[in-house]
Amino acid sequence: MELNILTLCYIIGSVTFILGLKMLSHPLRARNGNLVAAAGMTIAIFGTIFLYKDDAGNKLHNYGWIFGGIAIGGIIGTLAAKKVKMTAMPEMVSMFNGMGGACAALISLIEFGHIPDISTAPTGMLIIIFAGLVIGSVSFAGSMIAWGKLNGSIKDFAFKGQHLLNILLLLVIVGLSVYLTGWRPETAKVLVFGILGLSLLYGVFFVFPIGGADMPVVISLLNSFTGVAAACGGFLYDNKVMLTGGILVGAAGTLLTILMCKAMNRSLTNVLIGSFGGSSNGAGAKKQQGSYKEITLSDAAVVMAYANKVMIVPGYGLAVAQAQHACHELEKILAEKGVEVKYAIHPVAGRMPGHMNVLLAEADVSYEKLLEMEHANEEFPSTDVVLVLGANDVVNPAAKTDPASPIYGMPILDVELAKLVIINKRSMKPGYAGIDNELFFKPKTSMLFGDAKKVLQDLIGEIKNL
Ligand code: TAP
Repeated sequence: MELNILTLCYIIGSVTFILGLKMLSHPLRARNGNLVAAAGMTIAIFGTIFLYKDDAGNKLHNYGWIFGGIAIGGIIGTLAAKKVKMTAMPEMVSMFNGMGGACAALISLIEFGHIPDISTAPTGMLIIIFAGLVIGSVSFAGSMIAWGKLNGSIKDFAFKGQHLLNILLLLVIVGLSVYLTGWRPETAKVLVFGILGLSLLYGVFFVFPIGGADMPVVISLLNSFTGVAAACGGFLYDNKVMLTGGILVGAAGTLLTILMCKAMNRSLTNVLIGSFGGSSNGAGAKKQQGSYKEITLSDAAVVMAYANKVMIVPGYGLAVAQAQHACHELEKILAEKGVEVKYAIHPVAGRMPGHMNVLLAEADVSYEKLLEMEHANEEFPSTDVVLVLGANDVVNPAAKTDPASPIYGMPILDVELAKLVIINKRSMKPGYAGIDNELFFKPKTSMLFGDAKKVLQDLIGEIKNL
C-alpha cells in the first residue's frame, strides 16, 4: 500500500514537472509553472523520505542528516535567490547547475563504493555509474568556471593545442571507464578517482577558452549534461521521478542550446571552439570611422511625443541600468499623448534567454506590447521613432553586411527601416561582441548619451512639460 502511495507521489511529481515546463513557455503563467513543479518536487522528496523501503523492507533512518541538508540548502538557496540581481542571474543559474552536477557525480561515486564485488556487478549498472560520474563532474567543473567567468573572477584562458588536449583527455576518460567495466581490475576502487579527477579537469579545460558572451549557451549545454547525469541516478535507484526530471532537464537544456545558437546564427561547434565574445573579439571586423550626431533630451522628447508610433528596443544596458520601471513610465506617458508604443525583442538581447521579457514583465509592461524579432522587423517601416535602450549587437547591421564580422549572419532588428533612430548608451564603446556599430554613424541615427535610467527619467520630465 505504502509503495503504491510512493508511486503515486512520483507520478504527481512527473506530471507537475511536465505541466510546469509547459506553463513556463508563457510569461503570464511562468511564475505559477515554477510553483507547480516545485510543489510536485516537494511531494516526490517527502514521499521518498517517509515511504521508501529497500528490498529488505528497511525505511530511511538518517533523518538528522536529511533534514539538516534540506534546511541548510533551503536557506542558502532562498537567500541567494532573493538577493540576486537580475544581471547576475546567469551566474547563479550556473552555480546551482554545478551543484546538481556535483550531486550526480557523488551519487555515482558512493554507489560505486557500495558495490561489494566489482567482478560480479551488472555491466549496465557500471556503465550508468561511470556515465553519471563523468557527465556530473564535467558539468560541475565547467559550471564553476562559467560562474567565475560571468562574475569576472576568472579570465579566458587558452593555449595552443588545447582542443587536442581536450580530445585526448576525453579519450583517456572513456578508455578508463571501458577498462573498469570490461576488465574489472582489483584497482578499480582507486582508478575510479582517476576518472573523477580527469573529468573535473576536462570540465575546466572545456569551458576555459570559451568567450564570455557565449557563457549562456555553455551554461544551457552544461544544464543538459546535469539533466542526463541526474537521469543516470534515476536508473541507478530505479527512481522514476528522478529519471523523468533528469530527462526533462536534459532535453530542455539541449533544445535551449540549439535555439540560442540558431538565434545567433552560429553552430554549437563554433560556440565551443570559436572565441566569440572573448578577448580576441572582432579582430576581423571593420573599424568604424566617421562622425555621429547627438540629439538633446528636449529634441528627443519632442520627436517622440509627436510621433504616431514609437518602437523601444531594449538591450543589456537597460538591465544594467535597472531602467525597466522608467521605461514603462515613458511608455505610459507617450500612450497618454496618443502615441502607439511597442517593444522590439531580439531573442538574444541581454545575457540570458528571455532576459528582456523577464525584465519588462518585472515592470508590469503588458506582454501584448512585446513584438518578437520577425514581427518587429515587419513594423519598423511604419515606425516614426525607434528608441534603442542599451542595445548594441542586436541592432548592428554588420551582421548583414560585413562577412568579416564575428556576428555576421546573426539575425538583427532592422531599426534602420524606421524614420528616425535614437540610440541611448553611455559612450561609443562596443557591446559584448566587442565590435563597432556602423548604425551609430548613419544619417538617420542620433546618439542620446547617458545612463538609461537617468536619461529615461529626464525624458519623462521633458515630455510632461511639453
Ligand atoms: P550588447 O551588445 O552587449 O550592448 C549593450 C550596450 O549597453 C553596450 O554597448 C553599453 O554601451 C550599453 N550600456 C551598458 N550599461 C548601460 C547603461 N547603464 N545605460 C545605458 N546603456 C548601457 O547588448 P545587446 O544588444 O542586448 O546584445 C546582447 C549580446 O549578448 C549579443 O552579442 C548576444 O549574442 C550576446 N549573448 C546573449 C545571450 C542571451 S541568451 N541573451 C546569450 C549569449 C550571448 P556603453 O558602455 O557605451 O553604455
